[in-house]
Amino acid sequence: MIRVLFNKKGGVGKSSLTVNLAAISAAQGLRTLVLDLDTQCNTTSYLSALTLSEEDSIAALFEQTITFHLRKRPIIEYCQPTQYDNLFIIRGSERIKEMESELDSRHKIYKLRDALKSIEQDFDRIYIDTPPALNFYTLSALIAADTCLIPIDCDDFARQGLYSLQQQIQEISEDHNQALTIEGIIANQYMANANLPKQIIQELVDEGLPVVTEYIPQSVKMRESHQLKAPLIHMAAKHKLTQALLACYQQLER
Ligand SMILES: Nc1ncnc2c1ncn2[C@@H]1O[C@H](COP(=O)(O)OP(=O)(O)OP(=O)(O)O)[C@@H](O)[C@H]1O
Ligand SMILES: [Mg+2]
Repeated sequence: MIRVLFNKKGGVGKSSLTVNLAAISAAQGLRTLVLDLDTQCNTTSYLSALTLSEEDSIAALFEQTITFHLRKRPIIEYCQPTQYDNLFIIRGSERIKEMESELDSRHKIYKLRDALKSIEQDFDRIYIDTPPALNFYTLSALIAADTCLIPIDCDDFARQGLYSLQQQIQEISEDHNQALTIEGIIANQYMANANLPKQIIQELVDEGLPVVTEYIPQSVKMRESHQLKAPLIHMAAKHKLTQALLACYQQLER
């Protein structure tokens, strides 16, 4: 099962949710792989994986589709263990930026899907973090995925942005990946005492959008977790933020 975290808006929690949902998945005993498609490499950094070799990065994996190699390394060789049981990562790399136009012009858009298909039996769950843009890599991920999770930050523009995202995902589904669905819209940095977030979420629910009803609260623990490079399930299992992430995870897995 492959889930892509996607929203063209920046800073909504894609990387935070990728790492924390994947860490919960692994902690529950599922073999879980994280893929970092963002040149910012926040997910890679969060999982202390910037020390992994560039040769095992997502850039090297894509690079071998446009350069000649006597032996192409299968994707499984790029999946590196993290310090947590059952949790693996293909680290991100800034170098994918410079390859993007060549990959695009040489129509390598299905390469990620084919590669991930070949490790279907090796991982129970795959979580893909994407940059805040619908670029070649995001499109590759949406073509490879079973479902898409959309974190939102519950502000005024969330609704507007969602319409265009929905349309784009539908188009990708029609053109490239019929199985693709929006599995859940995840309200992140939710402030329970404020009226606007409540109103925005209610409007989305009323319109029939698949809003995950377990909201993720705003909490300084998230920043601490990034700083300490420790997913919340390992850093503060009992905290309300962690409990909300767990509840969100469980709703998705139901
Ligand atoms: N629930 C939360 N409570 C408090 N802070 C949060 C929460 N979720 C995310 N943040 C903070 O908001 C910032 C943006 O989060 P994150 O990097 O996960 O977003 P993103 O969508 O991946 O951003 P980008 O589009 O730049 O990749 C980070 O500093 C993170 O610590
Ligand atoms: Mg990010």
